[in-house]
Amino acid sequence: MSKPAEAPSPDPLAQLIQKKQFVGWLCNVDYEQALVLTRDDWKASARGVPQNCFLIAAPVDSHKVTGEILLLRVTGAAPLPANDVVAGLKVEKLKQRPAESAAGDAFSDLAAEQFQLGGLQCRVLGQFYLAHGQLRLGCDVESYSCAAGLAVYRPEGAALELIVNYISPERLASSREEARRLGLEGDLPRFPIGTVRFSSTDRLHRGEAASRAVFHLNAVDFLARRTAVFGMTRTGKSNTVKQLVSVVKHTSSDFKLKIGQIIYDLNGEYANANQQDKGSLAEVFPGATIRYRMIPTPGFELILNNFFHQVSEGHSTLRGLIEASKIPRTADLEAFLSMDFDGPNREDCSSDYEFQRRSALHDLKLAAYRAVLARAGYELPAGFKFVFEVNPGIRNKVNPSVDPANGLTAPQMFEWFQLVRQIQDELITSTGGSWVEPDTNVLINLLLQKNDQGGYIPGYRLLQPFKDYHAPNRSTDVCDEIYQHLANGKIVILDLSVGDPVQRERLGKRIARHILRCSMATFNAGQHAPHIVIYVEEAHNIIGRHEALTEIWPTIAKEGAKARLAIVYATQEVSSIHPNILANTENIIVSHLNNHHEIGELARYYDFGDFTHSLIRAQDVGFARIKTLSNPFVIPVQIDRFDPEKEKKRGVVAKAH
Ligand SMILES: Nc1ncnc2c1ncn2[C@@H]1O[C@H](COP(=O)(O)OP(=O)(O)OP(=O)(O)O)[C@@H](O)[C@H]1O
Ligand SMILES: [Mg+2]
Repeated sequence: MSKPAEAPSPDPLAQLIQKKQFVGWLCNVDYEQALVLTRDDWKASARGVPQNCFLIAAPVDSHKVTGEILLLRVTGAAPLPANDVVAGLKVEKLKQRPAESAAGDAFSDLAAEQFQLGGLQCRVLGQFYLAHGQLRLGCDVESYSCAAGLAVYRPEGAALELIVNYISPERLASSREEARRLGLEGDLPRFPIGTVRFSSTDRLHRGEAASRAVFHLNAVDFLARRTAVFGMTRTGKSNTVKQLVSVVKHTSSDFKLKIGQIIYDLNGEYANANQQDKGSLAEVFPGATIRYRMIPTPGFELILNNFFHQVSEGHSTLRGLIEASKIPRTADLEAFLSMDFDGPNREDCSSDYEFQRRSALHDLKLAAYRAVLARAGYELPAGFKFVFEVNPGIRNKVNPSVDPANGLTAPQMFEWFQLVRQIQDELITSTGGSWVEPDTNVLINLLLQKNDQGGYIPGYRLLQPFKDYHAPNRSTDVCDEIYQHLANGKIVILDLSVGDPVQRERLGKRIARHILRCSMATFNAGQHAPHIVIYVEEAHNIIGRHEALTEIWPTIAKEGAKARLAIVYATQEVSSIHPNILANTENIIVSHLNNHHEIGELARYYDFGDFTHSLIRAQDVGFARIKTLSNPFVIPVQIDRFDPEKEKKRGVVAKAH
């Protein structure tokens, strides 16, 4: 954590200048670039000048500090005008030196002013100034003087913290406004997630004697926004996601704002304490976390639905599974796939009588469908009975001693439909064909394994392979249940590391669709939808480049913000993400990438181009370059390791200003 480098000064501009961090003089500047003259001993006393570090160029005379203060980023070395001459002299000196001579420094007898000088190429990031006593940072330079002779410092500690955590007063005001709209009382919540780091080798600028600068994330930047987490495998993407979940969770608890979070956990690393990482989110926030899995596991809810209760959901799951399978299609199977199980609406019926008649037919259809499931071995929910009304004329014809209104068991139900089939012609004649719907007839065919002509069909057996997708103990739709948890501010972890991949993807999409539909409906009704953050790992699979923008994930990424849906997506490949979505992503966090193609994609955004070399070279875990909505430029940060013990204890919230 940071320790103040110098006694803080009340003047915000003066706070940026740390005299002991002097590294040189500004010798050339324009709107975009600056050249700084530096010297070895100055650099050494400021604990080095790593590539990509920030520099402050300010007038030496402290009275003039209110004038121009430039913020620079070192992008490389640059030759000084006298370089050729100096290089020539150095070569001459070296030529005279015997092999492996240990007799002092090669140039120790030469004047430091002449031989230790070098140039630093910098990009001008902006200009600090005061307006109404407030520190402002313009993201360009309004004017500059070529001969101002500005002194250049490498800020660290408190001054660096001021720079990297700078938020413009406008952004601050608008996020305060946003915070108020979100129902946050008080100031904008901010959370430390790491410390500034410029290079992989950090012996000097982050060493024992250095004063580190803590970087904070603003929770408001992430709510109802899009965030990308990029980086090669094992460079800390999941760790970053855990940090974000924890930032949002603390915001939610500290500000008494319900923020639901749902994690698509493809590897099961958030749900379980895995071998590499001690502690999982579920362990850190036990009371607030609900875990789901596709197979029964202690401590996990089942993602699946109860096919007997959530009939439409169950049927649509079966449809998806059958369509994805190689089962040969018969006429009955096709008819089964195209069925729907929505009941009649009173408004669509001309009379109460008509409504009751259609409702009774619908109940019969449901009974036939459930009988097929039961016959195929789908376990009945505890205490389940088949209950439906049939008019007395039909009832007596089928079996006068059995009244389905009193409830039938599965074997009784099967027998009842067998009897129905035996007297079907008679029933049809006596009711003019209106007693059974065509769909019900198909279901009876599947149940009895006979087509309309009496020929054998596999019928209910076709549904047997999918029994495991039915959850007999569930009473509500799993999507509804998850949405309710999210609306109550819980963390839902969908552990998708086990189960059939096809079904996993379908379920994942169905849950996402449900979240979007419910939140959009609330938004369209003119109400506030609950805050929900959706985290997706391996995002290239679902919001990939070739995904139609109308698919559910791109739709959430594009339009979810309206309905207070935030998405955080993590992947190894920048180029795999749909360009429209990337262009609309407000926050980008990147760790090591291994090729120029990926970096090229990224370099098109903000000032990531400055980090091209460093991103390829530095492979350090958790060393990220971060651009958030609030930060005007990219900040290189070493993200803290997610520490379950610390998280459990954490309650202190840093507040902006
Ligand atoms: N900032 C960090 N500081 C220290 N250790 C870290 C940091 N981030 C991650 N680690 C450790 O490095 C390992 C890999 O991290 P993580 O799982 O987050 O990487 P990843 O990018 O998600 O990998 P993958 O692509 O395999 O999902 C883990 O053991 C983790 O604890
Ligand atoms: Mg990961």
